[in-house]
Amino acid sequence: MLMLFVAWLVTALLQAQSDDLLMLPGLTGPEREVFRDGLAVFRKQVSVKGVEGFADTEAGLGPYFNMDSCQGCHSHPTSGGSSPLDNQQREAAVRAGAANRVPAFIKPQSAAIQLRARQALAPWLPAGSVVPLFTITGRSDAPNCDLPQMRIDQMFRHGQVAIRMAPAIYGSGLIEAIPDGTIVANGKKDEAKRRLFGVRGRPHVLSGGRVGRFGWKASHASLEQFIAEAYAVEQGVTNDLYSQEPFPVPPGCLQPTPEDRRNYFARRGIDSHSNVDRLTHFVRHLAAPVPHDSGPRDPELAQASQTFEDIGCGLCHTPTLLTGASAYGNLAEKPVPLYSDLLLDRMGKALADGVNQGLATGDMFRTAPLWGLGKRHFFCMMGAPEAFWRRSKRMAALSQMRGRAFAAFGFYPPPCVTV
Ligand code: HEC
Ligand code: HEC
Repeated sequence: MLMLFVAWLVTALLQAQSDDLLMLPGLTGPEREVFRDGLAVFRKQVSVKGVEGFADTEAGLGPYFNMDSCQGCHSHPTSGGSSPLDNQQREAAVRAGAANRVPAFIKPQSAAIQLRARQALAPWLPAGSVVPLFTITGRSDAPNCDLPQMRIDQMFRHGQVAIRMAPAIYGSGLIEAIPDGTIVANGKKDEAKRRLFGVRGRPHVLSGGRVGRFGWKASHASLEQFIAEAYAVEQGVTNDLYSQEPFPVPPGCLQPTPEDRRNYFARRGIDSHSNVDRLTHFVRHLAAPVPHDSGPRDPELAQASQTFEDIGCGLCHTPTLLTGASAYGNLAEKPVPLYSDLLLDRMGKALADGVNQGLATGDMFRTAPLWGLGKRHFFCMMGAPEAFWRRSKRMAALSQMRGRAFAAFGFYPPPCVTV
């Protein structure tokens, strides 16, 4: 018995130590405590009724959802990463007796995904919005809910929806802290070389005037907004920022909203946080991927970085941007080696997903940050527009260049697994 306890204790301690490695350096004691709180929520499963129905779950799942935890889509190689190799959505679809059919394109080994509407599918499903995969109908903790699942396979066959996979979210707080002006100014550098390669990135200026930077189409500037939306849309947990169910549902499926909220009357400050507060603090202070040392000591890597620049990849995948004067000390004035200019690029017909979000039309995407790429299972969009490839080919033989460009990050791409 004692041995078992000791083994448990050692495992728990090791876990705690490796969890602390996920923190961006520079957090104070209380900040670390909130970080751990946020990590716990990130990993926790959500059920309809919370602990009333299932031990160790948060309340608020559904009625529509894509997955029942953040971790389910962002876990490789650690919490906050990208999609795991085994698709967890298949299990979540039928957990606790839920009656969902798993769509054919969600295979056992496929990326965790969400669907986006290519066109308006209903008044409450405008073009660009997330089309939910599953419902809670049939679950033991939702006995009165009778809400049919959407006809996902059919929508997919008819090309009404596009698949979007989960990116890694490491270093997101640093990305949030890059000033709008820095992104705009960086996009105007190297004008002559940009023209030569036909590269014309533009900032995604959102309706409030801020420069968007999160999501495949840079649709959000604020982590809190993005996360509150993810909680409401991916898991169906309504919250202080998304205080009503985003889709119309029959009364038998509804719970009073918002399901997650602040507790202004808590005795200790730390107990007053909503789960969105906790998740936001966690994601904001999540450590950034550490690049392989590409200094002069490793001539091959140094040469590869040079090739990356020479052939024009760096025109969009800016190696480093700087954060501004953040009130969060650990985010202020820091270099962010993200390999992205955070601008929207026209990727051409072959890569278009046909989804419009704000200024980002069907073939426009945010330059994907490339940091941490070596630790990913899924990345199938071979990211550069056709016109760029044609120009770039003049500079280097394609096969040789690809190898070199990837070597710049100290790895070669794993085999591509399609969704
Ligand atoms: C069903 C899978 C899924 C779940 C569950 C999920 N995400 Fe995501 N996440 C995605 C996808 C797909 C994107 C890209 C969305 C887009 O392009 O708009 C994304 C993007 C993000 C981003 C933006 C990263 C960037 O740089 O663009 C953050 C931050 C994020 N998710 C946090 C969370 C948090 C926190 C939760 C839990 C509340 C969560 N996600 C739950 C799939 C998921
Ligand atoms: C015109 C700007 C632009 C240029 C130039 C460019 N990229 Fe990209 N890259 C993007 C965009 C936008 C994406 C995300 C959308 C996509 O993958 O289609 C992307 C995605 C990627 C991805 C996939 C990342 C992921 O998260 O799945 C890789 C790898 C990549 N680029 C490598 C390169 C390399 C290597 C070069 C130089 C040969 C290059 N890119 C040149 C804009 C660019």
